[in-house]
Amino acid sequence: MPTKRIADLAPRREELDPIEIASRDELRNLQLQRLRWTLNHAYHNSPHYRQRFDSAGVHPDDLKDLSDLAKFPFTTKQDLRDTYPFGMFAVPREQVVRIHGSSGTTGKPTVVGYTKKDIETWAEVVARSIRAAGGRPGMKVHVAYGYGLFTGGLGAHYGAERLGCTVIPMSGGMTERQVQMIQDFCPEIIMVTPSYMLAILDVFKAQGQDPRLCSLQIGIFGAEPWTNAMRQEIEEAFDMHAVDIYGLSEVIGPGVASECIETKDGLHVWEDHFYPEIIDPVTGEVLPEGEKGELVFTSLTKEALPVIRYRTRDLTRLLPGTARTMRRIEKITGRSDDMMIVRGVNVFPSQIEEQIFKCKGLAPHYLIELTREGRLDCLTIHVEVLPDHADEASRKVLAAELAHHVKSYIGISSRIHVGDPGSIERSAGKAKRIVDRRPKD
Ligand code: DLL
Repeated sequence: MPTKRIADLAPRREELDPIEIASRDELRNLQLQRLRWTLNHAYHNSPHYRQRFDSAGVHPDDLKDLSDLAKFPFTTKQDLRDTYPFGMFAVPREQVVRIHGSSGTTGKPTVVGYTKKDIETWAEVVARSIRAAGGRPGMKVHVAYGYGLFTGGLGAHYGAERLGCTVIPMSGGMTERQVQMIQDFCPEIIMVTPSYMLAILDVFKAQGQDPRLCSLQIGIFGAEPWTNAMRQEIEEAFDMHAVDIYGLSEVIGPGVASECIETKDGLHVWEDHFYPEIIDPVTGEVLPEGEKGELVFTSLTKEALPVIRYRTRDLTRLLPGTARTMRRIEKITGRSDDMMIVRGVNVFPSQIEEQIFKCKGLAPHYLIELTREGRLDCLTIHVEVLPDHADEASRKVLAAELAHHVKSYIGISSRIHVGDPGSIERSAGKAKRIVDRRPKD
């Protein structure tokens, strides 16, 4: 447990936006009203949506109740690709004050746009997220998410400014300099991908500095899946609270959902701006609350790029609110795209991550390599040994231990490659976890 007391960091009720603690009925009324506006706005101002609604035989007037949303067609990344770059905008391009994009590992990037009001909405939800994490006006926020087309850097930046914080706009990379700036400026908060936080930790250690003595009290981590085991590792290493922030560029960027420091029990969806559904990824049926499936979002207030039933490909479940009235999503353990099928068993990188954290003596960096030998898929886990376990005998023991955990908890055989300290490439943003070298068939 970090030394800084949660009770001293958690916001008081009177500091919250009233809607965060409004009744479910009040929230639902607001959602219905905003959803009507969104469907009409999309239908009347975006030829793409008009054509989609018409061919599905639905009209915005068909929405009488929130559950009627299920009658409307889904939107996918492919729709954004097909209308690249600006074809889905629902306002004249001149009213778009900002463009962002997601790099996309394959094909063209997807481009998203914001009006002035969209930028304000975005700043508001990120400010709310930072406050939920325990942030307060006057605190210093070190932003190490990348600045640029990626939404992480600028999204965090505007949100922190909106809350009244002092922003240190570092962006990703130049890790020694990141550590120097943390030492010099003494920020209370850092916003960064969890994997890059571990790279920053390496540099603290390499310089012989005790990270527990640094000024950081709160880390707001997201943009990639990370496990509770990693949360514990980071909290202990830095003596700080680690909370999760979720978002995607198509929906707005970071700040779609966020964890509250007082509960750290999944991410509250800022439901006054983003309406969540969970669907069966195969049939597209809406699943009841509590069941696991694909997360789908409909924006409720966005002007430039309204998204109607956007399929995120992220897998999670919807849970009732705890620290806020708004519903939570369970910590996201993976995307359907990241699911590996190894000899018939479905495996996510996060499951492997959990097993690595069980092996004291291994560093928290890893890469999963998939190859094919004959007809069989082979999974090799590349990990790193900690400097004080680097002898041959310890490596052998650690490899056997990890292979055993993976076999008994996940049910697959794997090969383990225990490399030297520092041998796994560090990324300054989202970590790459899978290298698939199997022949494409
Ligand atoms: O990653 C936005 C973001 C920036 C979120 C900074 C949080 C912090 P994209 O580049 O469009 O946007 O990637 C979105 O990243 O669909 C998830 O698969 C993954 N992702 C984002 N946040 C989390 C999280 C940003 N907290 C994609 N946990 C999403 C797990 C996450 N996965």
